[in-house]
Amino acid sequence: MTTMQPAPIRIPVAVPGAPYDVVVGAGVAGRLGEVVPVPPHARRAVVVTNPGVGARWGRAAREGLAGAGLEVGAVEVPDGETAKSPAVLGELWSRLAALPLGRDDLVVGLGGGVVTDLAGFAAATWHRGVAVAQVPTTLLGQVDAAVGGKTGINLPEGKNLVGAFHQPVAVVADTATLATLPPRELRSGLGEVAKYGFLADPGVLDLLEGDPAAAVAGDPDLLTDVVVRGVRVKAALVAADEREGGDRALLNYGHTFGHAIEAVTGYGTYRHGEAVALGMIAAARLGEALGVTEAGLADRTVALLAPLGLPTGGLTADPAALWAAMARDKKARGGVRFVLCRRPGAAFLSDPVDRAAVEAVLATLR
Ligand SMILES: NC(=O)c1ccc[n+]([C@@H]2O[C@H](COP(=O)([O-])OP(=O)(O)OC[C@H]3O[C@@H](n4cnc5c(N)ncnc54)[C@H](O)[C@@H]3O)[C@@H](O)[C@H]2O)c1
Ligand SMILES: [Zn+2]
Repeated sequence: MTTMQPAPIRIPVAVPGAPYDVVVGAGVAGRLGEVVPVPPHARRAVVVTNPGVGARWGRAAREGLAGAGLEVGAVEVPDGETAKSPAVLGELWSRLAALPLGRDDLVVGLGGGVVTDLAGFAAATWHRGVAVAQVPTTLLGQVDAAVGGKTGINLPEGKNLVGAFHQPVAVVADTATLATLPPRELRSGLGEVAKYGFLADPGVLDLLEGDPAAAVAGDPDLLTDVVVRGVRVKAALVAADEREGGDRALLNYGHTFGHAIEAVTGYGTYRHGEAVALGMIAAARLGEALGVTEAGLADRTVALLAPLGLPTGGLTADPAALWAAMARDKKARGGVRFVLCRRPGAAFLSDPVDRAAVEAVLATLR
């Protein structure tokens, strides 16, 4: 019973000491046993997922693992950002103890960034670190959250305050799973995809500009293409700078603004990729105002994002409150710096920027 699928594409992530592949293709989640390097003495795998994703894609994942001779368990965690909590992590640990999941066994995170962050952190801490294979099922997860080894949970005091770097043994990005994504999640993911075009690979922008309707409709070939390109960019930056001391920071294009917008609007108004869309417009306008960004990039950014159904204005948050959020962000050492774009494909980290220039740009997003 074989269906003809194009061969999956492998993108190596050359992290020193812990290299792994991101495997991208339609249907790869059903072949986990083949494409994941299962630890040699593993007896058991546990699939961590949530009810919605599990109902659609859990069986394919479990069968793929069973095919490798593993005993397969499953743990469901609640849907939504609140699952990245100490309480849910504690329950997850208890379920691993009950299985039991041994130190040679495998954790599989099947879901969006919430699940892969949580499952990754559980794996990082279980027996002081067991193998995790990430199977991201959102566009954001495939191009960003599941790749690079950052894992963690939230506290009431702040997002991602507790976490660990724990590289997966493989990331399996099954682009067929994107077909069941809610449309708004897909569009939000396209915002994150566009980021890679501005910071490193202008070809991504050409693809999105060439057929935005296909992107929004979830065209499988187009999505596979942009996932592969996005992952290549992230893989290169992560391999060069695993712990974010240097160029990995370029992945934050649009994110200093975006994180502030999410924080000030209370995380309920904008999906992450929507806040990043506004953030990329702000970054382009700021760069143009400072004379470091090629003229026209801000207009091009708006023209690219609007047909993807991403916000390009209408921000009601107060610029002063947004500035305050940026200034207290943990990354704001010695002034607020921004990743800016000279031209598509060429990004850099700015020197600290004056409050007045930043607030003037924010006012244009109303
Ligand atoms: N570790 C990192 O480097 C990193 C990077 C970026 C974001 N993140 C984290 O990722 C999280 C956001 O991830 P997200 O945007 O994927 O959100 P999410 O995990 O909440 O997924 C969005 C929604 O889509 C549903 N879903 C997922 N896959 C589906 C599918 N194939 N079909 C139908 N429904 C599906 C989920 O159940 C959820 O309701 C945040 O917690 C953020 O902090 C981590
Ligand atoms: Zn992001």
